[in-house]
Amino acid sequence: MKNYKEEIAKAIAGNLPDMELSEIEEAIEIPQDSTMGDYAFPCFKLAKIMRKAPPLIAKGIAEDIAGNPLFEKVEQVKAYVNMFISKEEYTESVMEEAIDEDNFGKTDLGHDRTVIVEYSSPNIAKPFHIGHIRSTVIGNSLYKIYDALGFKVVRLNHIGDYGTQFGKMICAYRHWGNKEDVVREPITTLLGYYTKFHVEVESHPELDDEAREAFTKLEHGEKEEVELWKWFREESLKEFKRVYDMLDIQFDDFDGESFYSDKMQCFIDELKDKGILKKSEGAQIVDLSEFDLPPALITKSDGSTLYCTRDIATAVYRKEHYDFYKNIYVVASQQNLYFQQWMKVVQLLGYDWVKDCVHVPFGLVSLEEGTMSTRHGRVVFLEDVLNKAVEKTKEIIQEKNPGADPETIDDVAKEVGIGAVVFQELSNNKIKDYVFKWDKVLNFDGETGPYVQYTHARCASVIRKAGKDVVAKAEKLDIDYSYLKSDSAFELIKLLHAFPGVVVEAGEKYEPSIVTRHVIDIAQAYNRFYHDEHILTENEDEKTAKVALTLAAKNGIKNGLALLGIKSPDRM
Ligand code: ARG
Repeated sequence: MKNYKEEIAKAIAGNLPDMELSEIEEAIEIPQDSTMGDYAFPCFKLAKIMRKAPPLIAKGIAEDIAGNPLFEKVEQVKAYVNMFISKEEYTESVMEEAIDEDNFGKTDLGHDRTVIVEYSSPNIAKPFHIGHIRSTVIGNSLYKIYDALGFKVVRLNHIGDYGTQFGKMICAYRHWGNKEDVVREPITTLLGYYTKFHVEVESHPELDDEAREAFTKLEHGEKEEVELWKWFREESLKEFKRVYDMLDIQFDDFDGESFYSDKMQCFIDELKDKGILKKSEGAQIVDLSEFDLPPALITKSDGSTLYCTRDIATAVYRKEHYDFYKNIYVVASQQNLYFQQWMKVVQLLGYDWVKDCVHVPFGLVSLEEGTMSTRHGRVVFLEDVLNKAVEKTKEIIQEKNPGADPETIDDVAKEVGIGAVVFQELSNNKIKDYVFKWDKVLNFDGETGPYVQYTHARCASVIRKAGKDVVAKAEKLDIDYSYLKSDSAFELIKLLHAFPGVVVEAGEKYEPSIVTRHVIDIAQAYNRFYHDEHILTENEDEKTAKVALTLAAKNGIKNGLALLGIKSPDRM
């Protein structure tokens, strides 16, 4: 696609001898209100260098470029040069890219460099709750975005599968455990054992010693303990994978904390050698007071390692193993301080590449009262939320469209219901806390997933009705662009033009909601076009042009939703 800001910068550069081309390009604005032009150049900062009143500078530029074929019209308004682009040429350059479904929105910024995205990372034998969904869907979207930007992305799930709690779990299982229950409902059952342990230990403190002993044996690789732990891990993973399947989310590996349990000693030694490690009441710490941070705990007084110890080992391993360009951690903002601490330790070890480790934090989700009845006490399971979303969506579809095909309704309800939850998760700026409400998530007319998907299905329906011949012509862009000059058509075209840049921005800011916002904008613009204009007209050329724009809008929506990890059904 033609870079219009660059073209415009070249066109006005002659009037601005003291400015670099890139500076001019950066200063060019896209007015909110398109009656002020498709692009505008503000001159008020130039008074000093040019020793001229800004409106006069603007006037000079406007007069100079008025005849340039790039523009349909150029106006000087106060200190601004407002430029209206020649629509046909612009539209042609946008349509050439937007018509190509496989590539629209992709760029090759990455040059195959490796980016790690670590996301989801639930804890074994603990519920995968609604809070975990954020890490899972934000991370999955960042993976898709970086993939579209031409990076090689490694998707890691840093499972919480290590630590002294597994000693307690083993001990609890030995006392009160039952194999069938674990297999049937692993997480709830194991969680139950863990809770029981904490109740029982109050009156039987010897349980604590037993648990500690079990963990030590686990750490030393004793067969029985290792087998039990492995089995807990496998059963829990099976349950997690059910949720990942529902969301259609994959990982390249599930090596979590336990994977690093034998990779810590060397850097503990290194910390010691470099004189960074301090003893404190039997524990070993790194004092970070100089950086205004609490100390990082490296080993406990009984010698056992911690979450932090494993994260340091993990980062070093990843650098050696993947030589990453970026190593992204999608982890809740509650761990902000913790991430600063361990990253500081890595920096103290002398590893400058720690600057390429990025913590991408996000805020909390809470559920509106009455959103879910809970199966087990107060914890809401993600799987239940997704199932409920699908169920409710099916009801809405049946109500809206009593003739919905019973053969496909379940598949559609799944794509729409799950898509709605994911879309909602990715709608807000990720750092904000928010409240999950069904009315908001499943509103087919609001700024929601179902609304955007519905618009996609509307495009698909227009395309079906247009017939093969028209579509074939439209796909070849064998069209007369003069039919796409109305305001509503051109607003849509401008949004399509911006789409690849939006993907870049979302990647740079680690913010999928920028893509979410943009697909809503495209969907709204298409609906305006659909209502304002007669698309399937008698005039073949006009029809072909408008169907081509429909195809382009469909591609923008579909590829945008795909970057969020959401499907685009052709019928709803
Ligand atoms: N398992 C952790 C939790 O649920 C998240 C892990 C985050 N990743 C990391 N490298 N520390 O809180």
